[in-house]
Amino acid sequence: MVLPYKHEPFTDLNDEQNRADYKAALKKVESELGKDYPLVIGGEKVYTDDKLVSVNPANKEQVIGRASMATKEHVEKAMDAAKKAFGEWKKRTAEERAEVLFKAAAIARRRKHEISAWMSFEANKPWGQADADTAEGIDFMEYYGRQMMRFGKGREINDRPGENNTFFYQPLGPGVVIPPWNFAFAIVCGTTVGPVVAGNPVLMKPSENTPVIAYKMVEILEEAGLPKGVVNFLPGDPADIGDYLVDHKDTHFINFTGSRATGTRIYKRASEIQEGQTHLKRVVAEMGGKDTIIVDNDADLDLAAKSIVDSAFGFQGQKCSACSRAIIHQDVYDEVLEKSIELAKDISVGNPGEEDIYMGAVVNQKQFDKIKDYIEVGKQEGELAFGGETDDSKGYFVYPTIFKDLDPEARIMQEEIFGPVVGFAKAKDFDELLDIANNTEYALTGAVISNNRAHLNRARYEFEVGNLYFNRGCTGSIVGYQPFGGFKMSGTDAKAGGPDYLLNFLAPKTISESW
Ligand code: SER
Repeated sequence: MVLPYKHEPFTDLNDEQNRADYKAALKKVESELGKDYPLVIGGEKVYTDDKLVSVNPANKEQVIGRASMATKEHVEKAMDAAKKAFGEWKKRTAEERAEVLFKAAAIARRRKHEISAWMSFEANKPWGQADADTAEGIDFMEYYGRQMMRFGKGREINDRPGENNTFFYQPLGPGVVIPPWNFAFAIVCGTTVGPVVAGNPVLMKPSENTPVIAYKMVEILEEAGLPKGVVNFLPGDPADIGDYLVDHKDTHFINFTGSRATGTRIYKRASEIQEGQTHLKRVVAEMGGKDTIIVDNDADLDLAAKSIVDSAFGFQGQKCSACSRAIIHQDVYDEVLEKSIELAKDISVGNPGEEDIYMGAVVNQKQFDKIKDYIEVGKQEGELAFGGETDDSKGYFVYPTIFKDLDPEARIMQEEIFGPVVGFAKAKDFDELLDIANNTEYALTGAVISNNRAHLNRARYEFEVGNLYFNRGCTGSIVGYQPFGGFKMSGTDAKAGGPDYLLNFLAPKTISESW
């Protein structure tokens, strides 16, 4: 009997024992740094000479691991393995496939701090954030397993006298999974196990920034009994194998989470029919955000400042859900800005591989340079109210940064930065608060801090985002409670962790029999 779904609780890291356990996990992981990792093709481990070198963003000298890099030939082999595995995997019942996920969730739960510790090193995730990331990965396995058991029953349709009709779901075939680095366990896990539990083998290309933690997930699925060839692991240079994976005639779907530029490129390429291709490819593209918290004049201002600061600077602002715009009613603008600056002053910045700090380094040199450039743009467009410092001598450190008095059309109010930078702008009333909130091409997350019920009710329908939060921050959706995803240029709104997610990877079939 499968118990009802309940999300994985977060670890109380104020508890002495839990802190000691987390530190022990960091020590264990530290002793395992610097190893070589293989590709996994049809269950075989393949080591290649070309390696992606993954380093600790807070300490560029520290090598986390070296991941073998796949070539086009490896992609071909993996596609063959996936096609072969499909024959058997699609015949398993929904319960059998779900069971593999439930076992994998149990293994991940036992290794929880270790998985989180890998993220503290490789992605520079602060302890609490890493713990939430691991919990989310476990949730995806528990939740999608149960959802597949529901879809496995098919749906009820109507019979007529002398006619029996049935409706059920089939998998699509092999597909490609391209997850991001920022939820190095959770999203890698969710974007992989969703299509897999629906019966589709996958070729998974992890991000170049976090291949080691992605490999850990593949190991866990293997240990849980996933048959060979169902998940093939192919780290590599996107320029070499990215388009090749997407374009492949046997790719049935692409499950992508990442930048807008890559997502739209995939969307376009997937629509081209290749020679020998016998189906239309489906694309799930979860892309960027320019997420806004609006603060009404009738609001709890401490809550407003805390929501803005936590959503803007948690995990260094590197979440697609991060708050990068705070639009404040003119009556309370100065006070909310001041309170936010006070809170930002308390933020500790350091290396989460060593200590429990609020912010680590940003992921790599390219992101560091990009964020630094945006800080310069911000200085031209508005006024630097707090922070603005950067330091890449040892690691890629960008300190919490707040700009004030920005024009809502300014570049740093419109373009995704993906770093710890938030812009403040003023509005004269609730109409203008909403107008500014909606003036970007993205529609991912947003929050309203207000005690005015009529305004909250308006925002429910007029604030254009996929995930809207009232009187809290705009990050931290929970699988099965806040299905996650955005529309407009934020993507296909697949709602990860939601009841319809698996439909993206299933083909419904109707059978009608007369008698
Ligand atoms: N689901 C995450 C959040 O809500 C973002 O991917 O923060």
